[in-house]
Formats: sequence, C-alpha cells, structure tokens
Amino acid sequence: MSYKNHPLVIAAMESIDVAKSLSALDEVRVQYLGKKGELKTLQAVLKSLSDDEKVEFGKMLNGVKQEIQEFLRHKKALIEAYELVGPDIKAIDVTLPGVRALPGHRHPLMATMDEVKSILVGLGFRYDDYPEVESEFYNFDALNTPDWHPARDMHDSFYTTKGNVLRTHTSAFQTRAMKNFGPPPLRAMTSGRCYRRDEIDASHFPIFHQLDVIAIDENISFADLKWVLYQLASGLFGDDVQLRFRPSYFPFTTPSAEVDVMFNGKWLEILGAGMIRPEVLQAGGVDSEKWQGFAFGLGIDRMAMIRHGISDIRLMYENEEAFLRQF
Ligand code: DAH
Repeated sequence: MSYKNHPLVIAAMESIDVAKSLSALDEVRVQYLGKKGELKTLQAVLKSLSDDEKVEFGKMLNGVKQEIQEFLRHKKALIEAYELVGPDIKAIDVTLPGVRALPGHRHPLMATMDEVKSILVGLGFRYDDYPEVESEFYNFDALNTPDWHPARDMHDSFYTTKGNVLRTHTSAFQTRAMKNFGPPPLRAMTSGRCYRRDEIDASHFPIFHQLDVIAIDENISFADLKWVLYQLASGLFGDDVQLRFRPSYFPFTTPSAEVDVMFNGKWLEILGAGMIRPEVLQAGGVDSEKWQGFAFGLGIDRMAMIRHGISDIRLMYENEEAFLRQF
C-alpha cells in the first residue's frame, strides 16, 4: 500500500516544495521526522491501540516516514545540483541522453601536409619546424638571392623589424638545417606557413603552405631527385602517376625544374626542384667540393586543392563549417 496521499505526507511535500536551501530543507525534516516532530506526535497514539490495530498503525507510520524521506532526498539532490550548476537549471533528469560533443577532424590542408610528410619520413627525411619570422639572410641572401637580385621581386614580402621578414618560402630552412646538423650526409625537411603580399584571388592568398626538402651526400644526382619525386607522387596520386619536368630557374638551384603532375587529363604544376648551388652549400657551412645535394619545395595548398577538387584557395581559410564538413 502506498502512503503518498496520506495528509501528513502531502503537508510535508508542500513544505519540501517551498524549501529553497539545504538549511530550510533540514528544518522541514526536523518538523516532520525530528524527535519532537509530527510523526512522533502521531506515534503517541500507538499506546491506546489494540495489538491488531498497532500492526496496521505501525505500517502506516513507517510508510509515511519512508515517503517523506524519499521526498527529502530528492529535493536535497536538486538543491545541491542547483548550487553546482547555477540558476539556469530547470531540473536534472539523469535518464535524458547527454549532449554529445562531436569529434572534430583534420583540415584538408593539414591532412595533406601530414600525408606528404609521412611519405618522406618513410624515405628517411627528418622533420623539424623552423621560424615563420625569418631573417632576410636565411630567406634570401643565403639562398643566393642578394638584395639587388631581381628574383626578390617575385616574392613581394612582408618585412617586419629591420632585417627580418615573414618567410616567403620554406626554402629559408635550407642553410639553417645545414648549420644545425653539422657535416652531411643530411636528409631534412620542414613545412608550414609562408607569406607573400599577393593580391587575393581564387589561386592566391597572402598566407599559404609549403613543404621543402633537402638531401646532401657525396654522390647525390638529379636521378636521386627524380626517384624521390616519383616515390612521393605515386604515394599521393597512385602508382601510374605521370610527372613532367620543365627546365626552370631558381637562384638557389642549378639545374632547376618545375614539376607537373598529370591529373584528370591536365598537367598541373606542383613543385620546384633542382640541384643545390655551391653558394648555398657554402652559406650553410658545407664543403661544396666534397658534398652535393638536391632540393625541392611544393605548395601544400595547391596539392590539397588538386586532391579534393577545390576550385578556390579562399575556401580553405574561411573555416566555414559547410565546407569543412565535406572532408
Ligand atoms: N622556394 C620556391 C618557391 O617558393 C620553390 C622551390 C624551388 C623550392 C626549388 C626548392 C627548390 O627547394 O629547389 O617558389
């Protein structure tokens, strides 16, 4: 039998309802269940009852006590939760499903960068980060591009304090790495943000990402460069990938090439490459009579756009959820 509708339970419930603090709630408990409480008063009636009646009455007292205790417990939990969560709480229903935080996922740029990196790590290249605010020396001079050199004009740059520049390409790491790691053999790479004062359009943005690689050893040739590039390209685009090497010019490599990949029936330029010039080796403290090496640098934004069929570079920097969810 339930005692929920017993007048004493209903009266206690009404007091419990209005109690707004733990101390107010305790007053209600004392009033009903305390040593001189309502229930004790009722208990006094027991003495005057017959044995049979006593059993029934005793059950009732117990039932009423349990109901009141139950309401007190429930309200106590609510007040405690309220104190924890604050005034916005309506009620806590622990059986409701929780609010699920959806796990995020990688930006297409970072995913592409990591994939390129991991293929190259597999080929024995070490990875390190290098400064984004670079000295003009490492960004230009050390790469055989002194301040009068016309090639500087192609890199419309953001100069910061005197002698420093936001790196215009990750190639700036080349002579730093040579100095950091001492005498060759050396296989190293870096990647990250680069900056140029480009007009913004579908294929240009003042921030973009590159990945640069160098390999220096005693007998490194252009054939080694080609082999590494084919390994990289087939890892990214599949075994039947086709590459095209076009002769080109960079101040820091001779001979130099621009490399295109055949994608959806079209040649797309993906990177610049070449054999490191002796001036660059010397700027990095490497004996250019003894050692030689190759270098290449690729645009990660370009690569991500090709792989995912993205037509506008700006989409990758707007962080619109509708765009990002697709990858
Ligand atoms: N740094 C060049 C650029 O931003 C790309 C490049 C060309 C990197 C040739 C290289 C290289 O390492 O050997 O246009």
